[in-house]
Amino acid sequence: MLTLLSPWDMREIVINNYLYCQDLPTEPRPDMGIVLVTGASGYIGGRLVPELIYRKYRVRVMVRAYSSEYAQRWPGVEVVVADALDIAGVRKAMEGVDTVYYLIHSLLLGPLEFEHADIKSAENFRIAAEECKVRRIIYLGGLGDTNYKLSPHLRSRMAVAQELQRGAVPVTVLRAAVIIGSGSASYEIVYNLVRLLPIILLPAFSFTRCQPIGVRDVIKYLVGVLEKDETVGCCYDIGGPDVLSYKDMMQEFSRILGKQSLYLPSPVSNITLFSYLASLLTPVPHHIVRCLLESITYEVICKNDSIRQIVPLRLMRYREAVVAALSREEQDQVSTRWSDAYPPAHELSMKLKEQPGSPEYSYTYSMLTARDSNVLFKSVCSVGGSGGWFHSNWLWRLRGWLDRLIMGVGSLRGRRSRSTLRINDVIDFWRVEDMQENRLLLLRAEMKLPGKAWLQFSIDPEQGMNRLTVKAYFYTSGIIGRAYWHACMPLHVLIFDNLVKQIEKRTE
Ligand SMILES: NC(=O)c1ccc[n+]([C@@H]2O[C@H](COP(=O)([O-])OP(=O)(O)OC[C@H]3O[C@@H](n4cnc5c(N)ncnc54)[C@H](OP(=O)(O)O)[C@@H]3O)[C@@H](O)[C@H]2O)c1
Repeated sequence: MLTLLSPWDMREIVINNYLYCQDLPTEPRPDMGIVLVTGASGYIGGRLVPELIYRKYRVRVMVRAYSSEYAQRWPGVEVVVADALDIAGVRKAMEGVDTVYYLIHSLLLGPLEFEHADIKSAENFRIAAEECKVRRIIYLGGLGDTNYKLSPHLRSRMAVAQELQRGAVPVTVLRAAVIIGSGSASYEIVYNLVRLLPIILLPAFSFTRCQPIGVRDVIKYLVGVLEKDETVGCCYDIGGPDVLSYKDMMQEFSRILGKQSLYLPSPVSNITLFSYLASLLTPVPHHIVRCLLESITYEVICKNDSIRQIVPLRLMRYREAVVAALSREEQDQVSTRWSDAYPPAHELSMKLKEQPGSPEYSYTYSMLTARDSNVLFKSVCSVGGSGGWFHSNWLWRLRGWLDRLIMGVGSLRGRRSRSTLRINDVIDFWRVEDMQENRLLLLRAEMKLPGKAWLQFSIDPEQGMNRLTVKAYFYTSGIIGRAYWHACMPLHVLIFDNLVKQIEKRTE
């Protein structure tokens, strides 16, 4: 059943289910001044903010695109809209701030752009932090040995740390390898490979060792260092108790799932090939899989783990972290996911209401129904993910597969939650752009398209009943886009007409 959460409900959920730091051995220091969380819309930032709220810190978040959902998700938090690449915006976000959590990374921009963007963002923060007299910066980066030739991803994580450390504001650096938690990209890749494949080929790099850490422990360390002044300006490696190869991690996962997969050494270890194949089988798109696979050719094991004396934790073993993640999924309580950050194709001014002029093409199908708006809305909000699209599911899946073949996001991303939905959530190859309770759900297309597309569901009172409408919008300027629209028209008619009928039927 779909639940639309009030701020109060949300707070209850935050307090009762999502908090990791209740047993943290450090004392909250809410008198500290404003704590700025950057990357708050991302996987780690989204889990850190509720902890800080609960510990009564004055929290400000910096996001690139405003969403009305933030006020509900993070009651009492100040939201500043700024891009790290624009120093004026960064200065504004940092005014009056005591501590900055730096959780930004631009991996999604792809191999040609992300290193440059990462350094530019860090440089802007270094300069603005000095100007605004910020007391300290806390940065979560990647673990890696600078004596070796690192992957572009790990190299960029190190370079960001160095860029931030060049300034006068002391930086606490936490360096983590693979983070295991519900919704983390590494977890979803391993989970889906193990779940789907009866035979798993092991390339040479799957024997590399690393030190995974549970997302709960990462969040505890992030909060713990904030509350311990002796960590100001220091660098720590954080990892769980187990040092495992990727093969070990997959085999442990198989055991947890009770799967009897056959593991065989692979005669080839080509990263391009393996990342492409893994991206076809898992929800995580090719460019992220590739960055992660490139990074696992290097051993990443903690060298300086002195943080364990300063913030003593009972760290979760790999197995425990996987079981905790699986149970979060089973309870439908995944709070953030790797897909929360915007994909590379995203333009921040892409909102439907901000498009100039009316769309070149649109298609509307609607019906009048006696059903209540709230039950209709619940039915609308349950589309996609494992529940499917109510009709012609094979066509939706085929579209997703075609997108994946050409390295788009595809439809395997599914949904963060089966029962709840919030603005910016992903639904297969869509993302929620707007949501008005019992009235409207607007989805923006993120698959590869020769144009920009939206799908809008609306419920409007009419003649004492309700009109349920599905409307597809398509903006295109090229001949390929026009050809695409006309070629897809017969399928759209079939899909959308039936979709409206099925949404109404599902309310019974
Ligand atoms: N997740 C892991 O498994 C893992 C493992 C080891 C280390 N880490 C480190 O942990 C940190 C956080 O990672 P994450 O997994 O939470 O990342 P994520 O989910 O990809 O989130 C990245 C965040 O950066 C923001 N961002 C990107 N470009 C920006 C810009 N120009 N201006 C402002 N914000 C920008 C994104 O905002 P938008 O929503 O606007 O795109 C998003 O909130 C990173 O430093 C990462 O290296 C993560």
